[in-house]
Amino acid sequence: QAFFKPIRDTAPPSPTKRHTKISVIGVGNVGMAIAQTILTQDLTDELALVDAKPDKLHGEMLDLQHAAAFLPRTKIVASVDYSVTVGSDLCIVTAGARQNPGESRLNLLQRNVALLSNIIPPLAKYSPDTILLIVSNPVDVLTYVSWKLSGLPSNRVIGSGTNLDSSRFRFLIADHLDVNAQDVQAYIVGEHGDSSVALWSSISIGGVPVLSFLKNQQIAYEKETLEKIHKAVIESAYEVISLKGYTSWAIGYSVANLARSLLRDQRKIHPVSVLAKGFYGIDGGDVFLSLPTQLGRGGVLGVTNIHLTDEEEQRLRMSAKTILEVQSQLGL
Ligand code: NAI
Ligand code: 2OP
Repeated sequence: QAFFKPIRDTAPPSPTKRHTKISVIGVGNVGMAIAQTILTQDLTDELALVDAKPDKLHGEMLDLQHAAAFLPRTKIVASVDYSVTVGSDLCIVTAGARQNPGESRLNLLQRNVALLSNIIPPLAKYSPDTILLIVSNPVDVLTYVSWKLSGLPSNRVIGSGTNLDSSRFRFLIADHLDVNAQDVQAYIVGEHGDSSVALWSSISIGGVPVLSFLKNQQIAYEKETLEKIHKAVIESAYEVISLKGYTSWAIGYSVANLARSLLRDQRKIHPVSVLAKGFYGIDGGDVFLSLPTQLGRGGVLGVTNIHLTDEEEQRLRMSAKTILEVQSQLGL
């Protein structure tokens, strides 16, 4: 029996809005930070959670469902069985081992590659039209592996990449110059990790190119100061992990920001990990690393042609080489 009486005899018209569905695989610190940001920001009609630990999974689902009275209406489902993800528009993979204090992301490779063969094929099977967004580390190599395992076109396989590093970079620059981080346009590209590249030459604040502004005003800036800021970006995750054991909130917001651009067709530019071969002189094999990329409902719409200095381009190619060397150990 329906709770409401219909207001007319005829059946109500079926809703015209398309039902959107996001699946999050792995309900640890990162998966749950992403899930809760997606819910508070009203980014989907349905959220499916998957994890290998059934009790933890059920507990997390109930805990989120119990917040229904305070959140935009979203159907939340969970299962260890991947059929729960059927028909997803976006699948976000966060399952896997994380770094111990002082451990590098690349050190997680063997453990996390092994998990992907149980995760990616069923996701692609149940949602052949999905966009895959990989977050587990080392994210660039795992995005490549996911592309191979999924059989999906490369424009629909994306790694969260340096969207997070760039946010840390913008925060540190904003803090240094006492401006709003949202007014700072600045990219970190390359590997999400130790060989990442800061694009100093293209930084602008409120549309004003920073390096040329300082030069025109004859304000001396020291390369050392710039290097220090980039070093702080690289060390950010190590610092947070040594203090609280893991990182979660910033990656939660970063991934929700990507989900919005993708599902709402925002056509915004994000530094994310994409198949980079052929861009900025990157060759030597299929490699995923972060480049400023336009994202929309179709996934990757294009890679932005930002001017890089020779040094920046060289560093980017070195970063690609680092990732390719690690990838070559996989024998895929
Ligand atoms: P966590 O240990 O809190 O959670 C991992 C979850 O994965 C656990 O709930 C575990 O049961 C689940 N899991 C393990 N194997 C699974 C499988 N085969 N199928 C389904 N679920 C499985 O770890 P945390 O802190 O959530 O980190 C997750 C990953 O995200 C790590 O690899 C970490 O390095 C990475 N990460 C990536 C970031 C990025 O910017 N790309 C930022 C922060 C973390
Ligand atoms: C981060 O940068 C650990 O990759 C993770 O927060």
